[in-house]
Amino acid sequence: MSAIGKKQCNVNIVGFDKRAHLAQVVAIDQQVYEQPWNKKDFIRHDSLNYRGIVAKLGKEIVGYLFYRLGKSKFHIVNIVVRPGYRRCQIASQMIQRLIAKLSNRCRTWHHVRIGITLEVHETSLVAQVFFRNFFQSQKQGLLLPTKVLWGYYKDGGILEDAYCMEYRIPTLVVDALGRPINRIGHLL
Ligand SMILES: CC(C)(COP(=O)(O)OP(=O)(O)OC[C@H]1O[C@@H](n2cnc3c(N)ncnc32)[C@H](O)[C@@H]1OP(=O)(O)O)[C@@H](O)C(=O)NCCC(=O)NCCS
Repeated sequence: MSAIGKKQCNVNIVGFDKRAHLAQVVAIDQQVYEQPWNKKDFIRHDSLNYRGIVAKLGKEIVGYLFYRLGKSKFHIVNIVVRPGYRRCQIASQMIQRLIAKLSNRCRTWHHVRIGITLEVHETSLVAQVFFRNFFQSQKQGLLLPTKVLWGYYKDGGILEDAYCMEYRIPTLVVDALGRPINRIGHLL
């Protein structure tokens, strides 16, 4: 579909706030998954190394994304859009928000995040197509397959493989003033 013909809901993307959002997010998970997360799972994923964002249409939450903060990457733990609101670029807008937090200027002495990792169920064709199409549409960066984790998911006693992928933006090593460092210059 061309960019002009795309159906798009312009959602408001805000940080997950457990007091305001927990009940709606749990309800979406119950609607979507056979083994949904419960309140405790969401609270655990709103802790030190995790962050959540939600997509709101008015007061209604129509999607959420949880991710883990790695040293140099974000890891998508889960992204869900409510059935009935799909194919409206809502998941795309949430990941776009994550991409906006990446930095292509990599300072050597402290961590900046230059990529996004994720894994998908081998049978989740929709999720696979979504991630491929979304990341391919980005002006910079590449989504690459990294590994297969055999039997990683054990949903309802059925083993499923996980396909791991990584999106990376081109990086530049810079000094304190943001000037590019020529890393072999001092050897010449
Ligand atoms: C995967 C998911 C998050 C996508 O959310 P979404 O808001 O519908 O995705 P978007 O509208 O941003 O889709 C962007 C592009 O991805 C592709 N895409 C998304 N869903 C698709 C589908 N069902 N079939 C084919 N392509 C699809 C399309 O190229 C789409 O662009 P287009 O609509 O202009 O053609 C949603 O389907 C979902 O919640 N699934 C269940 C949970 C899940 O599997 N999450 C992933 C866990 S890692």
